[in-house]
Amino acid sequence: MRVLAPLLVLMLLAPLAHAQSLGETLQECPGTLTGSTQPQQIHLQMTDDASVMNVVWASEGRSTGEVEWNGQTAASTDFCYNHDMAFHMASMTGLVPGEEVTYRVSSGGDWSGEFNFTPIDSMDDHFQWIAIADHGDSSEAMDVSESIIADTAAQMVTISGDIAYADGEQSTWDNWFNFQQDSMTSIPWVAAVGNHENEPGYEFSPYEHRFDSDGQSESEIFWYSRDFPGVHMVFMSTEHDYSEGSTQYSWLAQDLASVNRDVTPFVIVYGHKPMYSSNSYHGSEVELRVALETMYVTNGVDLVIAGHDHFYERTFPVAGDTVVDTGKDGRFARGYAPIHLVIGIAGRSSYEELDEPQPEWSAFRENSSYGWTKLKYHGDTKELAFTHHRIDGTIGDEFILQVAPLASNSDGGIMGIPGFGTILPILAMFGAAVRRLR
Ligand SMILES: [Fe+2]
Ligand SMILES: [Fe+2]
Repeated sequence: MRVLAPLLVLMLLAPLAHAQSLGETLQECPGTLTGSTQPQQIHLQMTDDASVMNVVWASEGRSTGEVEWNGQTAASTDFCYNHDMAFHMASMTGLVPGEEVTYRVSSGGDWSGEFNFTPIDSMDDHFQWIAIADHGDSSEAMDVSESIIADTAAQMVTISGDIAYADGEQSTWDNWFNFQQDSMTSIPWVAAVGNHENEPGYEFSPYEHRFDSDGQSESEIFWYSRDFPGVHMVFMSTEHDYSEGSTQYSWLAQDLASVNRDVTPFVIVYGHKPMYSSNSYHGSEVELRVALETMYVTNGVDLVIAGHDHFYERTFPVAGDTVVDTGKDGRFARGYAPIHLVIGIAGRSSYEELDEPQPEWSAFRENSSYGWTKLKYHGDTKELAFTHHRIDGTIGDEFILQVAPLASNSDGGIMGIPGFGTILPILAMFGAAVRRLR
């Protein structure tokens, strides 16, 4: 028995470490023994295979489930975590990009209504999506959600962290997912984690279970990349180790180095905390800048879209605190240095105090307003158009990023050989500054 006792303890603890199938989670989710099996919180979950779309949903009572699409069915994987709600995830396979899919889900024999979505065709010439951060459930957040639903041309939503602000209260997640269901059943939401996804008593477990199935490897959940028409997007975690030598750092380095710019001329990195922010509440995340800015600059990252500070700010192309290019008439040529965006305006109360004077790298900033941003890729002109929308219907800021050099610029920036010379001295200065900071 002395030998068996530790083994028994290990066997009992194992399901706690990784929530498995419903049969193994009796101790974890006793509240799911009874309750309605009606599907709720239904949302699409993108995979790295355009022909496969996952759908995740919840039910109060535990049961097995299935998805039905295009005359086919597939059984769900059923799981839970330390919360009285059962979750189901099923895969729709054999999808043809660009062709609409009609689907519905069931758990315990209770069916949802029918939904439609169109898998994104990465070869398309046009693509548009909404980017938000710092959402929650305030009335302003609801306004943003309604605007997302109303924008029937948007093909996706990205969120740069601080999603529901559950902070340990799991019913907040339930309500948040139910409120987003109208958009999340028709277009995928793709997320990077924020500090509020690291919850007291739960850590990242609610995020892991609700945005993906259980049992995925860490790197698949917290840092990953996807190719969309014209744009390679990286979703990284500022909430996990990103320092040189870390798993995430190595992954980022190889991912950014392997982008084929002929296929995806633009590269966007999503992460929660900003490298550049002139808001006095949090401000620039210097540690992040020291660790990753050179990698972003040398690999030609075009946009870095962050949140965390609850205001809107756009930088000029900047490297090592130095403005590299100021563009012309709201247009920027690709390849000088990343433009950093802080878009923590999707609903959480605004952080009012700003650093004064406004730093040179800060091209536009605004507090006390709420909203979302919209990005449109145009393959025919090889442009990426960015617009900052306020919930009152007005536009706060906009710019266009283009592959072609600006007429007034004789060189092509870091992506073109002539421009590289202009940025080398700045990189050298930046390298020296980084060494001093260390
Ligand atoms: Fe936030
Ligand atoms: Fe945050």
